[in-house]
Amino acid sequence: MITLTVDDRTIQAPDGSSVLSACLSAGIIIPHLCWMETDSPAGAPAACRLCLVEIDGFRDPVTACTVPVENGMTVYTGTEVVRSLQKMAFKLLLSVHRVDCKHCPANKACALQDIAKFLGVGLGCKPFERVLKEPEVDTHHPVFDYYPNRCVLCGLCVRICRQRHRQPQLSFAGRGFETVVGYFDADPLAAANCVSCRECLAVCPTGALVERTAFEGSTRGNS
Ligand code: FES
Repeated sequence: MITLTVDDRTIQAPDGSSVLSACLSAGIIIPHLCWMETDSPAGAPAACRLCLVEIDGFRDPVTACTVPVENGMTVYTGTEVVRSLQKMAFKLLLSVHRVDCKHCPANKACALQDIAKFLGVGLGCKPFERVLKEPEVDTHHPVFDYYPNRCVLCGLCVRICRQRHRQPQLSFAGRGFETVVGYFDADPLAAANCVSCRECLAVCPTGALVERTAFEGSTRGNS
């Protein structure tokens, strides 16, 4: 086991685990969206940029999901610099997110609401402009709908699909602000090949993927 100090607490973690994994296992909260428990520090995508921490010996803040624990390491999870960068990263994510919690099935179970509360900020995105996508909903899949303006592109659905299936159907499509979760080879008809295991629905942190029968009618075009 590796012994490290986090915010004046001494904790232990298995060799090879990430600082994020070590902290979460010890009950120390670090905001995160794109990390999966199966991620090694070298394999974490570090897409959301929310898990920043400061570590003695590192010149700049680093993503806790990509740094392996080391004996004697000293980590700070709540400094002014860390919080400021986390708030900025969070606002950037919100700049592509339509805030309409009242009509969202993830209301009160949404990772964005939890992170906003933890950081003590609202769901506004200033100084960034909100950039939303059209169409509001992709209904190509036989079982679930995809709401691009709720999606923060954490990639969990795409990754779980790749992990579970030899022929994954979900992938990223488009570029830059136009990026969405789409079907393999950006072919909407590929949705018909999906075995509908629903694992992507289970990992979605924001209500971007919604089983149709669960919330039908009340949300389409309202997200
Ligand atoms: S959890 Fe580390 S960058 Fe997303």
